[in-house]
Amino acid sequence: MKKILITGGAGFIGTNLAAYLLKKGKRVRIFDNLSREGTKENLKWLKTLKGNLEVIIADIRDDKKVREVVKNVDVIYHLAAQVAVTSSVTDPKEDFEINALGTLNLLEAMRKFSPESILIFASTNKVYGELYKNSKFAVAEDQILDFYSPYGCSKGAADQYVRDYSRIYGLKTIVFRQSCIYGLHQFGTIEQGWVAHFAISGLKGRSITIYGDGKQVRDVLDIDDLIKAFQLSLKNIARTKGEIYNIGGGRENSISLLKLIAKLEKLIGKKIPYAFANWRPGDQKIYISDIKKAKKDFGWSPKIKVDEGLKRLLNWIKGAL
Ligand SMILES: NC(=O)c1ccc[n+]([C@@H]2O[C@H](COP(=O)([O-])OP(=O)(O)OC[C@H]3O[C@@H](n4cnc5c(N)ncnc54)[C@H](O)[C@@H]3O)[C@@H](O)[C@H]2O)c1
Repeated sequence: MKKILITGGAGFIGTNLAAYLLKKGKRVRIFDNLSREGTKENLKWLKTLKGNLEVIIADIRDDKKVREVVKNVDVIYHLAAQVAVTSSVTDPKEDFEINALGTLNLLEAMRKFSPESILIFASTNKVYGELYKNSKFAVAEDQILDFYSPYGCSKGAADQYVRDYSRIYGLKTIVFRQSCIYGLHQFGTIEQGWVAHFAISGLKGRSITIYGDGKQVRDVLDIDDLIKAFQLSLKNIARTKGEIYNIGGGRENSISLLKLIAKLEKLIGKKIPYAFANWRPGDQKIYISDIKKAKKDFGWSPKIKVDEGLKRLLNWIKGAL
């Protein structure tokens, strides 16, 4: 049995995915430079699980290392990234090198040394830019691209390269343009991972800073639903290769920041203090993924409702604290 490579495998999505695959008896290779807060804790936890886990601590910018790790794998999940819009504004070159060039390193390695494997790339809804102010329409994959912020540009470039390597070189690649994913093992910070950040702050009794008016709407998706989408897209590779999918909670799991805070307050049983700050560049007022294409092509739709997902997240945080 070949291995499954997860770049960024010690991060939030990667850890959950690795645990899922190990439980299924798969051989998992994690490639991560451990730059993200919480990654060491995640690895420690993964090592307590039974299974065939290999961990390679290295950087996606190191193309020699990247060439080595794609060998003998049949699926590659490319999750390693500089994930914060704010850091991308502070250091756009580093952001570009990790997100755009790092992805190109991986694609080139795959083209030369592992052309039969399947690659899933974790892209982002940020490739659609600010969108029309207050549009209530769910966003489908044919929405015009409008990279906004260096992070939007670097992830957007990677997104287009991943798709194009299917078109030009015939590689089996799939792009997931993810909305807000939340769940266990998410060390959310003010920079990224806002649902977990709000939940951690609420439990610790810390005040939250909300950028904008708090009325912005997001379609949040539990990590377990994302993992199901990954698996179903792989099962249907004849149809999904070379395709792009918007993946999020959809209309049923859309919620404003203020309403999500209210839910957390109810679950935790106390008020969470918050203050407002200016909107951040490119912040979308409303983002709801149109998930019809994923449903049509591989029969996926989210199953975990926000209340249930939040309860599970809070339980995990209580244990982790
Ligand atoms: N969580 C979300 O809501 C969300 C939404 C849209 C897209 N995404 C994308 O999904 C992917 C995973 O996100 P996440 O939420 O798990 O974030 P995360 O920060 O928890 O995981 C990213 C991982 O990449 C690693 N990494 C960073 N720079 C690296 C480098 N130069 N070389 C090797 N490893 C490096 C980090 O240490 C971390 O473990 C990212 O590509 C992100 O852009 C996430």
